[in-house]
Amino acid sequence: MPVMTRNFYHDVLVVGSGAAGMTLALQLADHCRVALLSKGSLQSGSTPYAQGGIAAVFDAGDSCQAHGQDTQTAGAGLCHRDVVEFTVEHGPAAINWLIAQGVAFSRDATGAYHLTREGGHSHRRILHAADATGKAISTALVDRVLEHPGIEVFEQHVVVDLTTQADAGSRHLRCNGAYVLDAANGEVCLFQARVVVLATGGASKVYLYTTNPDGASGDGIAVAWRRGCRVANMEFNQFHPTCLYHPSAKSFLISEALRGEGAQLQLPDGTRFMPNFHPDAELAPRDIVARAIDHEIKRLGADCVYLDIRHKPLAFIEEHFPTLRAQCLSFGIDIARQRIPVVPAAHYTCGGVVTDTRGRTDLKHLYAIGECAFTGLHGANRLASNSLLECVVFATAAAADIHQQLADIPMPSFTKPWDASRVTSSDEDVVISHNWDEVRRFMWDYVGIVRTRKRLERAQHRIQLLQREIHEYYSNYRVSRDLLELRNLAMAAELIIRSALLRKESRGLHFTLDHPELSVIAKDTILVPMNFANQELIVDKLA
Ligand code: FAD
Ligand code: SIN
Repeated sequence: MPVMTRNFYHDVLVVGSGAAGMTLALQLADHCRVALLSKGSLQSGSTPYAQGGIAAVFDAGDSCQAHGQDTQTAGAGLCHRDVVEFTVEHGPAAINWLIAQGVAFSRDATGAYHLTREGGHSHRRILHAADATGKAISTALVDRVLEHPGIEVFEQHVVVDLTTQADAGSRHLRCNGAYVLDAANGEVCLFQARVVVLATGGASKVYLYTTNPDGASGDGIAVAWRRGCRVANMEFNQFHPTCLYHPSAKSFLISEALRGEGAQLQLPDGTRFMPNFHPDAELAPRDIVARAIDHEIKRLGADCVYLDIRHKPLAFIEEHFPTLRAQCLSFGIDIARQRIPVVPAAHYTCGGVVTDTRGRTDLKHLYAIGECAFTGLHGANRLASNSLLECVVFATAAAADIHQQLADIPMPSFTKPWDASRVTSSDEDVVISHNWDEVRRFMWDYVGIVRTRKRLERAQHRIQLLQREIHEYYSNYRVSRDLLELRNLAMAAELIIRSALLRKESRGLHFTLDHPELSVIAKDTILVPMNFANQELIVDKLA
């Protein structure tokens, strides 16, 4: 017999409490009832980990044109120009909104906002809160969220899948909520809403070595795909060049802002090598720096390369990089006196759920914003510090679009409650941890910085086997957060592999030895799910 489940109703269901989700929730909550879900605490996700900052034109000598050009250069011919212009032009307003929420960006001696530099930027244009920008943004937004009566927060609630209903008067579907696991008690509840917004972050946890926290399992991308939304450019997973290399350090990023302030990359013997790879040396776009490091590590059989900021006075390091210095000191490395051992690690998902500039997806009344979305901004390689910017700009645009439409969207109709009557509790959770490790290892080995068709085919074969096993497990056992994440992680891995196999060239973050050249025509890789036909064509990105 189906088990009765709790049922919640809100106008807008926001899945994810990072920079994207909280911005959208705050901008809508004066007008309607918002549910804000996080599968962990409110401060889970990548946002609190962001170090370097947020890019926007804030200096009289800089321009939107220059910011747009840098974004397009880094994106290696695949950025959508209209989207780039839209984003950079809304950058200053996004920063001002964050400041109004209480985000305290660092200032210089004159009281002006201090702007730092990162790879690929032709100007100093990164606003930051020392080296813990994400924490400053997340803390300020959480404070606002918690004091807002229009937002109901649900922590430890994990979306399992989206629910849909027929759209009145058409043969198409519309999104009307989600099945959600309350991880505290194992119950799957029904959350109904007129509009659902996915703000679930990226999928970099598909790789063994990553800068991302554990929850970056591509959940939003997987649930949208299962409900018939197109997904694009998943082959472009960005590897950050400098993650701390230390046996006890799990995923600790060494911010690109160090290189922005003059830190040099060196081989173990102290030789500087980046000038051999790009005229901008350490400040070349990220894909080039990561590939150069990978090349040198493999060539020398070394464990890592080194980043050297010892030329800067201790007072400067303490002022600009207090978190980094403290973290490295906890591993016995004093960055003012010693070089920092670094390796590349998976960092950012440039692809995602296809959306337009209002955040609309292919499924009516479903939006996607932040790292889980593919807007066309990043092209084949994201420019540093453009992600937090994209989160705020697109959350703002989506909030405005939802606000405008909400009154005309009918209440959701009946949705079948979750049926857990045919599943039992698992007595072999080792299957989950084993498959989790296996996916992440073969993705690192076969779908990493340098690819070949043969390696990708090996990975594809393995992911198909694993997905069958995971599907069987999912059908027979009660869901848990670990199982849901594994199911989504495997789906994200499959989408990455499929996309990588389709790209017959090397561009930006996708480098394959079988096709080292760049094609003349730049094209997005758009994957179309089998059930896409159920959707009305809302987002016109089939080109
Ligand atoms: P996230 O902040 O990742 O939040 C995702 C949210 O979704 C979380 O609340 C999570 O609990 C929730 N969620 C996920 N799945 C589910 C589910 N199934 N059910 C319910 N909830 C779910 N970018 C920059 O621009 N500048 C930087 O300096 C910078 N530094 C970075 C440093 C590090 C170490 C990392 C990891 C990333 C950095 N980035 C930076 C990238 C940037 O931080 C992220 O792209 C951005 O924060 C993503 O925000 P988001 O709101 O899309 O998702
Ligand atoms: C960093 O601080 O190096 C990360 C910046 C980013 O990912 O945009």
